[in-house]
Amino acid sequence: MNFQDELNSRTREAEDILLLFLPREEGYRSRLAEACAYSLTAGGKRIRMLLMQETYRIFGGNEDVIRPFMAGMEMIHTHSLIHDDLPALDNDDYRRGRLTTHKVYGEAMGVLSGDALLNLAYETMLSGFAGTAFPERAVRAMQVIAEKTGIRGMLGGQSTDVENDGKPVDLSLLDYIYENKTAALLEAPLMAGAILAGADEDTVRSLEKTGSCLGAAFQIRDDILDVTSTTEVLGKPVHSDEKNRKTTYATLLGTEAAAQKVRELTEKAVSLLEGLSGDTAFLTAFVRSMASREK
Ligand code: IPE
Ligand code: IPE
Ligand code: MG
Ligand code: MG
Ligand code: MG
Repeated sequence: MNFQDELNSRTREAEDILLLFLPREEGYRSRLAEACAYSLTAGGKRIRMLLMQETYRIFGGNEDVIRPFMAGMEMIHTHSLIHDDLPALDNDDYRRGRLTTHKVYGEAMGVLSGDALLNLAYETMLSGFAGTAFPERAVRAMQVIAEKTGIRGMLGGQSTDVENDGKPVDLSLLDYIYENKTAALLEAPLMAGAILAGADEDTVRSLEKTGSCLGAAFQIRDDILDVTSTTEVLGKPVHSDEKNRKTTYATLLGTEAAAQKVRELTEKAVSLLEGLSGDTAFLTAFVRSMASREK
């Protein structure tokens, strides 16, 4: 199978896994469950699920525990998107080709469904403990995911990002923001998949560095697309950064130099993967494909 067919087939499989863990829409809380499902099933790229599944596979994992962990990771990511789009943050009306959750269900339900998904992620991962002979690995993986999501990760980055809307931002601050708001949630699945499979500490650290380079490249590509793409292709509004008076790599360096930075960071990520033992061919192709993604 060529890379694109393989990627499509794995993405479909990730969709099916996610569906297994959706909350039931029943009783008085059914609208909250519906709002959670609305955003989760809107068809994101499922990159974080695939990264986790792939490092799990590379290091020999073969238990069912990976499924709830993949689903939990995507719930955390989707929660970050629902909240990122709220009027108090980026105030955007489209996501994954649909109206944003708060546009359809109202702002209160936007806040609450984001919270509910974040909590459901941990409920889901905890349910995975029944599917492993190595609970200590699952604890460690959850620890990494929790840390990369929280104040020392994505949320630390998101808060610093919105706090600096409309203010001058230098490269060092921008790097902190990208490392945390975006890279942390790409490091987490790369590391967690390896941890669940029993990889050693050096491998996990190297994957953290890989995720850091990949994440910065991913966000810079996102900044470029915000300037150069269309809402139809992206499924989310373009010029969101300009609207929010955000400094990005694209505004600071220009889109040409920003694109060069994406290439450099991607090659750095690839060379880190070359240092790992195991079959990293798919992961390398996946990382390279992200550098030129159009959505
Ligand atoms: C969007 O992430 C947020 C950023 C970190 C730029 P994705 O581009 O992975 O969004 P989906 O999951 O495919 O919708
Ligand atoms: C968001 O960065 C990163 C997170 C959601 C954590 P952006 O605000 O640039 O993401 P998009 O462009 O809305 O997807
Ligand atoms: Mg944002
Ligand atoms: Mg945004
Ligand atoms: Mg963006």
